[in-house]
Amino acid sequence: MSKKKLAFSGVQPTGNLHLGNYLGALKNFVSLQQEMESIYCVVDLHAITIFQNPKILKNNTLETTSCFLAMGLDPKKSIIFNQSSVSGHAELAWILNCVSRIGWLNRMTQFKDKVGSNKEKASVGLYIYPNLMAADILLYKATHVPVGADQKQHLELSRDIAQKFNKDFNCENFFPLPEPLISKNISRVMSLRDGLKKMSKSEESDYSRINLKDSEDEITKKIKKAKSDSASIPDNLKSLNGKPEALNLLTLYSELSNQTLEKVLAEMSGKEYSFLKKNLTELLIEQICPVGKEINKLMDDKSYLSSILREGSKKAQLIAEDNLKNIREKVGLI
Ligand code: TRP
Repeated sequence: MSKKKLAFSGVQPTGNLHLGNYLGALKNFVSLQQEMESIYCVVDLHAITIFQNPKILKNNTLETTSCFLAMGLDPKKSIIFNQSSVSGHAELAWILNCVSRIGWLNRMTQFKDKVGSNKEKASVGLYIYPNLMAADILLYKATHVPVGADQKQHLELSRDIAQKFNKDFNCENFFPLPEPLISKNISRVMSLRDGLKKMSKSEESDYSRINLKDSEDEITKKIKKAKSDSASIPDNLKSLNGKPEALNLLTLYSELSNQTLEKVLAEMSGKEYSFLKKNLTELLIEQICPVGKEINKLMDDKSYLSSILREGSKKAQLIAEDNLKNIREKVGLI
């Protein structure tokens, strides 16, 4: 088995990336590209498991690409491309549909959460979405997958699928078992209005999240309005029990200032939350606004963004086709 490390991750082009996406996974992409060969994919085929307006989908694919570049992914170091332009993703997904088990998919909590009681009306694609995700990863024999905590179960399924393929086709170690890389400090960024809910693009109030494209003014207003606590900042983590909004703001500050939560508490204990909010706002403006401005700038040159995807697709295609040849051979397809 080759011991080469390779990172792969995907981001859905659903528009409006926010601080939760950024700190939960995207920030990791940038540091990983220094450590190993990395492939980052705008997963447009995943997006269409829920109906997308075609024009908006195209625009969102370019916007996600601009976000990759704005936060520091370098197309010379990483492969940046969109999923649908390499047909091997769909082809391998089909093969893996035949390896994966219905019982395994039935355990996927994200599907259950998404469809609620409306299961009969969900697309078949949404149901087998995790098999396509496994195909994304295994098509490149990726070893490391930076994702948000919500994708942990899907990653475990990818490992199960890889293992079953290796066993069924008698090719031990053919697919490496991909390892999830989930940021430890801040795997979940919570809503600014309800600290028990994840920050999400689908929450109705825009005050619940910081979008990467928010202006300085918007960030200032949102943090000012964010729920915190009427007591002053405590000196220990235990006192934050039952105060998820306060904990979330402190965690955000600790992440953006690169300090442990303990250190932040030691520094800020006894102060009011308004003090924390002022400092947090400054850090957000310093770190998020430049990304947002760069996204807007890049979106003015869509042909440049398309060319980045085209070039990335060519490189991805070469790896994919090479691996697919072996996969077809293993399965017995002529
Ligand atoms: N399901 C992932 C998400 O919603 C996106 C994704 C698709 C992905 N394919 C992937 C992530 C492969 C990592 C690896 O966040």
